[in-house]
Amino acid sequence: MSLEVEIAFTLNGRAVSAAVPATASALTVLRERFDLAGAKLVCGEGECGACTIIVDGLSRNSCLMPAVDLAGRTVRTVEGLWGERGLDPVQQAFVDTGAVQCGYCTAGMVMQIRHALDRNPAAGEAELRRAIEGNVCRCTGYAKVIEAALAAGQRMRGGGAP
Ligand code: FES
Ligand code: FES
Repeated sequence: MSLEVEIAFTLNGRAVSAAVPATASALTVLRERFDLAGAKLVCGEGECGACTIIVDGLSRNSCLMPAVDLAGRTVRTVEGLWGERGLDPVQQAFVDTGAVQCGYCTAGMVMQIRHALDRNPAAGEAELRRAIEGNVCRCTGYAKVIEAALAAGQRMRGGGAP
């Protein structure tokens, strides 16, 4: 039986705690203990970005992050983006522009773009392309993703971002 460690952290604005296997990744714990299936396991090696979450304001590959390192942190997953006002501007822009195909990369893309726009709501195409350098999409060719990112930035600058 593997050793479990009790951790407490803030998850999508809520204080939570759990006993987690000492060797588990943050991705596994978020998906299996907290039923947050947005972040995906694709490469498991930090190469594709499908598992991107935001930890203390920084984007992280949750497949490489030990779950025990979540202790005391503030964590945001794609499920934490929407609220009473509906979808986050980045999520809405993905829907509006058709930037979602199979969807496997989408949560990671959305989190990385939201992270980039939180840091610079006026980010242009070059900056947004750099932001998703570590996010692999096998379907869209990235054109729709960038279109969505630019539209989301515009929407956020115009107000109404949650
Ligand atoms: Fe984490 Fe690919 S699954 S980077
Ligand atoms: Fe299929 Fe990106 S939409 S991998």
